[in-house]
Amino acid sequence: MSQYNFISSRFPQHRPRRLRKDDFSRRLIRENNLTVDDLIYPCFVLEGHNQRQSVASMPGVERLSIDLLLKEAELVHSLGIPMMALFPVTPSEKKSLDAAEAFNPDGLAQQAVRALKREFPELGVMTDVALDPFTTHGQDGLIDDQGYIINDETVAVLIKQALSHAQAGADVVAPSDMMDGRIGAVRNALEMQGFIHTRIMAYSAKYASSFYGPFRDAVGSAGNLAGGNKFSYQMDPANTDEALHEVALDIQEGADMVMVKPGMPYLDVLYRVKQTFGKPTFVYQVSGEYAMLKAAILNGWLTEEVITESLLAFKRAGADGILTYFAKDVAEKLKSSV
Ligand code: PBG
Repeated sequence: MSQYNFISSRFPQHRPRRLRKDDFSRRLIRENNLTVDDLIYPCFVLEGHNQRQSVASMPGVERLSIDLLLKEAELVHSLGIPMMALFPVTPSEKKSLDAAEAFNPDGLAQQAVRALKREFPELGVMTDVALDPFTTHGQDGLIDDQGYIINDETVAVLIKQALSHAQAGADVVAPSDMMDGRIGAVRNALEMQGFIHTRIMAYSAKYASSFYGPFRDAVGSAGNLAGGNKFSYQMDPANTDEALHEVALDIQEGADMVMVKPGMPYLDVLYRVKQTFGKPTFVYQVSGEYAMLKAAILNGWLTEEVITESLLAFKRAGADGILTYFAKDVAEKLKSSV
């Protein structure tokens, strides 16, 4: 203990500030770095041509028709971002109780995948596997007459949806629905159809979070959410052991990559998942996190440095990659700083 006995000593025995004094040594001792290779850019896709709509609760985020999405992809690709994640905005007349539009080979997501892979074969394309954009009630699965989301019948539809994405050329399918057994079922179907290279990123620890509000606004599934919540399938924000259990099942069922969602309020979960399994682990900085940071930045209450700080927190906690609506801005900033 003697080295900590500052009372009897005239000087601090240790001066950790030495290494923080200059930029060169701060850079040398930096433990975690954020690079463009860490980023996945989520995009909202609209029907039609030359369509561009802003999302009220997500300033700076736009829904784009496929022709404009291709222009966006060109920029994303040139910035070096490895992958885009697609979220289709389904017009209400195409929503139904059986969510049949989800596996329409000419649906919006399927068309967008084909167009992107044709124009930018090297840019990774990931799709969302869940029924909420396609059901009239906005739940991620089919419902019974009590309004309960029925598991196995939903999984049967998810299989068709995932196969239609793989057929269109999706590199990664990402089940975000939280039904039991869906990773194994999707993996099995992909193998049986010869899609041995299609990767699965499982939304494994997906919480029933209020941070998804702006996303539901963006894809138009907010107003009609029957039952008002997703508590019977998404996880309770109070739990962490359960998250490890969900991740273990998804890995056992064949997930290549696992995900924790939301991000910043669940850093403890991210840390435990990476420490426990050592699998490629991703985190989703969701719409509500984007909205909070963006609102404060636009109001001048925070500076935009909070963006990279928030993403570095994910790297510290063990994330291999991050889905973030800030991906383009961050990639541009990283490019100008080299
Ligand atoms: C759909 C899905 C959601 C998000 C991604 N996929 C919404 C939800 O589960 O209600 C949320 C993404 C975000 O908030 O940015 N299953």
